[in-house]
Amino acid sequence: MTAPKRLTLILTKEEISREVKRLAQEIDRDYQGKYPLFLGILKGCFVFMADLVRLLQVPVEIDFVSLSSYGSAKVSSGKIKVVQGLRSQIKGRDVLIIEDIVDTGITAGYFMNYLRRKKPASLKLCVLFDKPSRRQVHVPIDYLGFTVPDRFLVGYGLDCDGSFRHLPELYAIED
Ligand code: PRP
Repeated sequence: MTAPKRLTLILTKEEISREVKRLAQEIDRDYQGKYPLFLGILKGCFVFMADLVRLLQVPVEIDFVSLSSYGSAKVSSGKIKVVQGLRSQIKGRDVLIIEDIVDTGITAGYFMNYLRRKKPASLKLCVLFDKPSRRQVHVPIDYLGFTVPDRFLVGYGLDCDGSFRHLPELYAIED
């Protein structure tokens, strides 16, 4: 049996909700008159994306890919496993990638390079949590919620070996 984990609160649901609202306003302003394709990277994005899209005024199309590089480990394997690949047509579309967290940047960097080759009209990245202290691959973040500390984070979609994604707040986890 593994020892119980200790969780330290990093961001309350009110703090997260305020930032998600601000991001929705920025996106609304920038995509006026357009019909962007929001591409969420599962699994981590599901809570953020669900909250974000329900605050938007602009009409959007929604799709997902499922990419994984951590598995049950606490550090990135550096290799992306494509669990569910891309189904949408990208050429000529205004594409906005939705990520819960950018850590090493390997996942977002890989996916942006892949999408760029498909000739979207525009390609931007929206990230709720940025952990710049761990970056290995530069990724340009167009819409950012929070810069977060270099700790293992769970909640609001982020997991530790499959657990804690459902928590409405963001926590750091200690063994
Ligand atoms: C997490 C997270 C991001 C990625 C960020 O996904 O959701 O997609 O890691 O880390 P990086 O910047 O170091 O690539 P994970 O591989 O854990 O899969 P999951 O979303 O299914 O939990």
